[in-house]
Amino acid sequence: MSITAQKALLIVSKGAPFTVGQHEIPAPKAGEILVRIQATALNPVDWKIQQSGVYVETYPAILGTDSAGIVEAVGEGVTNFAVGDRVFHQGFFINRNATFQQFTVVPAEIAAKIPPEITFDQAATIPLGLATAAIGFYNKKWERGGAQLTPPWQDGGRGKYADQPILIFAGSSSVGQYAIQLARLSGFSPIITTVSPHNNELVRSLGATHPLDRNLPVSIITDSIKNITSKPFIVIYDAFGGSAELQNTAYDLLAPGGKLVSVLASKVDPDKITSDKEVISTFGTVHAENNRELGKSLYGNLTELLASGDLVPNNPEYHPGGLASIPAQLERMKNNQVSGAKLVVRPPETP
Ligand SMILES: NC(=O)c1ccc[n+]([C@@H]2O[C@H](COP(=O)([O-])OP(=O)(O)OC[C@H]3O[C@@H](n4cnc5c(N)ncnc54)[C@H](OP(=O)(O)O)[C@@H]3O)[C@@H](O)[C@H]2O)c1
Repeated sequence: MSITAQKALLIVSKGAPFTVGQHEIPAPKAGEILVRIQATALNPVDWKIQQSGVYVETYPAILGTDSAGIVEAVGEGVTNFAVGDRVFHQGFFINRNATFQQFTVVPAEIAAKIPPEITFDQAATIPLGLATAAIGFYNKKWERGGAQLTPPWQDGGRGKYADQPILIFAGSSSVGQYAIQLARLSGFSPIITTVSPHNNELVRSLGATHPLDRNLPVSIITDSIKNITSKPFIVIYDAFGGSAELQNTAYDLLAPGGKLVSVLASKVDPDKITSDKEVISTFGTVHAENNRELGKSLYGNLTELLASGDLVPNNPEYHPGGLASIPAQLERMKNNQVSGAKLVVRPPETP
């Protein structure tokens, strides 16, 4: 007899604590796959949604946006996956697509097979962080889109921006690590980034050429940038999005036609914004209709990008205890106690 219930991490009402409970296993519709999740990663958005209720339409709510697991069933019309495949994919903010549970469903067009040399824990570090970097750089323009660069996995994209410098704030964050790697594949040089100095080697290993100490005053960071390159930037990516001073300074460093992409809402003084330099607050999900084409194209190339070593995962920091360990680990994240690592748990271990 097939099982119909599973363990999930539930929020019963806005602001309520996470609790482990039972929830129905979603059924895959046409074009979807059902995934038995082996690893899920934690993201700042999880504690932000738990507190604010943003994106939640119904309670009890299940959160979680990163999954790596095994295909349990395929919906009608799915030909690119079979039961037993190792896959990874992004989750979304509705229960049937969320990843803080033991099973989830996802459209097959935005899932990818995991190469044999990549573990479930490693694969789970990729979906949200990579999507946010990729959409911010390469997606078409829409209200929360991207800078419309040519992706390095498409014709003419690899190395295309070889004569351009790039600036990436918060290079050791999950999103920042993927932004550095994509910038490297796109050819940008130099790749200047801000991190705490203990993460210098990490970001260098991903392709950053000039890590700058993020704890220095903005004026000193700016002088250092100007000493590295005198060229204005066609793109600056702010992977943390917390500092108005940094964003206002960055805006001045943009070339005409340049774009400042931020993971959070713009903090640039509205009076400063001119018609020739844009600020884009990106929406890092391949599930969104306006991001879907880019997401399909990314996921169509992702297995090969990983297998070739062109992209590497974040460093997974595994925590035992399955879904039950998520609340304490999100608390650490909220208190800025995570640096250069992605927190990962394994839902099958849930007591
Ligand atoms: N728009 C979207 O769709 C979207 C998607 C994903 C994430 N986000 C947002 O993007 C942000 C980053 O997410 P993430 O998952 O990449 O975060 P994360 O990996 O948890 O970020 C941790 C890193 O942030 C750096 N950091 C901490 N405080 C900082 C500060 N004041 N200034 C600059 N860097 C700082 C630390 O670098 P050091 O240890 O080197 O100092 C640490 O390595 C979050 O606010 C998240 O909510 C938005």
